[in-house]
Amino acid sequence: MNFFFYIIVLRLVRFALGSIHPIEISGSHFYNSVTGEPFFIKGVDYQPDGSSGFTGESDPLSNPQTCARDIIMFQELGINTIRIYSINPELNHSKCMTMLAMAGIYLLLDVNSPLQNQHINRYEPWTTYNTIYLEHVFTLVQEFSQYNNTLGFFAGNEIINDHKSSENSPVYVKQVVTDIKNYIESNCVRDIPVGYSAADDLRYRVSLSKYLECESPGDSQMKSVDFYGVNSYQWCGQQTLETSGYDELIKAYRNFTKPVFFSEYGCNRVLPRQFQESEVLYSPVMAEVFSGGLVYEFTQEANNYGLVKIDPHGNAQILNDFKTLKARFMAIEDSLKQQSFKEDLNAPPLCQPQYTNLDINVDTPKKLAKILVEKGVSPTTGGYCDMDSKDTETKYKIYDSDGSLWDTSKGIRFINGLTDETVQNDPKSKGKGEDKVVRKNSAIMLSIPINSLICWITVTILIPLNLFC
Ligand SMILES: *[C@@H]1O[C@H](CO)[C@@H](O)[C@H](O)[C@H]1NC(C)=O
Ligand SMILES: *[C@@H]1O[C@H](CO)[C@@H](O)[C@H](O)[C@H]1NC(C)=O
Ligand SMILES: *[C@@H]1O[C@H](CO)[C@@H](O)[C@H](O)[C@H]1NC(C)=O
Repeated sequence: MNFFFYIIVLRLVRFALGSIHPIEISGSHFYNSVTGEPFFIKGVDYQPDGSSGFTGESDPLSNPQTCARDIIMFQELGINTIRIYSINPELNHSKCMTMLAMAGIYLLLDVNSPLQNQHINRYEPWTTYNTIYLEHVFTLVQEFSQYNNTLGFFAGNEIINDHKSSENSPVYVKQVVTDIKNYIESNCVRDIPVGYSAADDLRYRVSLSKYLECESPGDSQMKSVDFYGVNSYQWCGQQTLETSGYDELIKAYRNFTKPVFFSEYGCNRVLPRQFQESEVLYSPVMAEVFSGGLVYEFTQEANNYGLVKIDPHGNAQILNDFKTLKARFMAIEDSLKQQSFKEDLNAPPLCQPQYTNLDINVDTPKKLAKILVEKGVSPTTGGYCDMDSKDTETKYKIYDSDGSLWDTSKGIRFINGLTDETVQNDPKSKGKGEDKVVRKNSAIMLSIPINSLICWITVTILIPLNLFC
């Protein structure tokens, strides 16, 4: 037999401790908790298949292959945060979260999903606010609290969006915020911020933000949000601060004592999108009040907001909006570095007896979460893991908007400190005439010919077991 003997070189990428720093809040801004630098959210909303396509069998962070594909594109786009609307906390997210962390990307996560027992019914919240729901929420919070790149949790998205929901739901939203904050305080290793993502409806714009922000000293039953997300689609096409109404948004949130940002933006009523507003959002006049935002949305769905189209085989096609947005993000890079602001550390306002267009005199079962908060939910698994370098490449193809193929052979760029270990599985091969091939610092050599692989298996597994030769 004339086998070639290979030494399999596994490049294990170890996610080094201390390599991604949690983001924390001080006053109305986000900061890197270690370097102290201000942090502006430059991101996209990310839910391939849309929220309604969510079945729970998989989620955007359960498949390392699609994560690798998309993170390569996130890096090219130049973002630092993604928002995900629906997650199944029972699935394994280790690899995707590790890759995001290695790529320097943070996660904002909604705790709800469209599935039964995983969200609050906005019209009859008392029918859905129960311990099964809370267990879902806490399991998700527990699972993602292990990761330094979890930036925050949204307790709700657009739950108050019409008259009936504004009568029944505001207190329930604040109750869920409170429950999550209590849960984190008692069970999690880190104090992860909890906020709400609001539909930008003028009837509730100011009043709901003030209600969710306010505190009642002595009443630990109702806690204030840590941040506030606004879903804003009012800058369409060619606009200015005044014609878009952004000046009014600035006024409305100027006094907010916590960070505010756009949890969705990117009007598509005028096509192609120009993303003028992206540059404005990070200019000094807005950056003083807003901590950046998330463009709706990464993948193309029926509603035509996508930056990237994924075909049924999982290959990606870059759309023109991706290019436009990328150019905008590159242009703001410098203005952000120069951004400075005076830190205000005003305490949140005291709660008022009433808020315009909201009914806040609704009773909630305040003790419902108590036992779960005290006991914690069943132990979760996960956490950052070691990765083969192969994992950070993608098997899918990415086509540029001009049809050319991206070179993805380098995989994800690691921007956070990693130790790169080369593990040689030396088969201690016997016999003469072996031809050792060692390719250091290359991807794992699984592309070696199949007969060599069989050979390797023979030498390392079968021979020691005396099953061969
Ligand atoms: C997470 O952040 C903490 C605090 O900065 C740090 O001590 C820890 O090493 C970090 N872990 C990782 C895996 O980055
Ligand atoms: C913000 O505070 C100023 C000064 O206290 C006040 O005049 C203004 O009405 C406040 N704005 C909002 C939206 O509450
Ligand atoms: C999750 O996946 C990682 C990486 O493959 C693995 O190390 C870890 O053991 C898995 N966790 C569970 C509970 O299966």
